Amino acid sequence: MKIVILNGSPRPRGSSSRLLAAFTEGAQAAGHGLTRFDLDRMNIHPCRACYYCEDHDGVCIRRDDMAKVLKSILDAELLVFATPMYYFGMSAQLKTAIDRFFAADGKLRAKRMKSVLIAPAADTDPAVSRGLLAHYEQICQYLRLQDQGRLLALGINEPEDLDGTEFLEAARALGAGLI
Ligand SMILES: Cc1cc2nc3c(=O)[nH]c(=O)nc-3n(C[C@H](O)[C@H](O)[C@H](O)COP(=O)(O)O)c2cc1C
Repeated sequence: MKIVILNGSPRPRGSSSRLLAAFTEGAQAAGHGLTRFDLDRMNIHPCRACYYCEDHDGVCIRRDDMAKVLKSILDAELLVFATPMYYFGMSAQLKTAIDRFFAADGKLRAKRMKSVLIAPAADTDPAVSRGLLAHYEQICQYLRLQDQGRLLALGINEPEDLDGTEFLEAARALGAGLI
């Protein structure tokens, strides 16, 4: 299966990256192919709501890196949303990319892709993840994504906090168990 990872963390060696490395190891061992986009390092601008894409066959007026991200997503079967929890939601990097799905909404919905959420957060109270989870679920429903798992790594402020937790193995198992 072709998997596209959208990494919304700005930290190259952060918690999301460590979780994604474990997830990738599991997924590769199971024979899946992965393409990862580290959104913070890319040139991706917010949607301008100009509706140019509606009259131009899904081509966005913004000529930036989002075109190659969307091309890759439309060629894949599973989408991984990875984000540190920021103010009870996803990072701006990930949200900016998701808003740009608008140009390919119809094609994305028709594909009925699978999806996964991977999200570290410093807080230990599961209640803080309600907003992020509700948002993810709503996006899945709208884009007709079939959720294959959510890994909320609570109590993780720094990547080292993952040491000795079950989260790295859970990420690896999530990748390895994809079918
Ligand atoms: C701007 C900002 C906002 C944050 N907001 C939250 C939050 O609302 N809840 C929480 O539990 N942690 C919050 N955190 C902590 C991060 O989610 C946590 O450090 C995470 O492990 C970072 O992941 P990364 O290393 O992949 O970027 C915030 C961190 C930053 C920098």
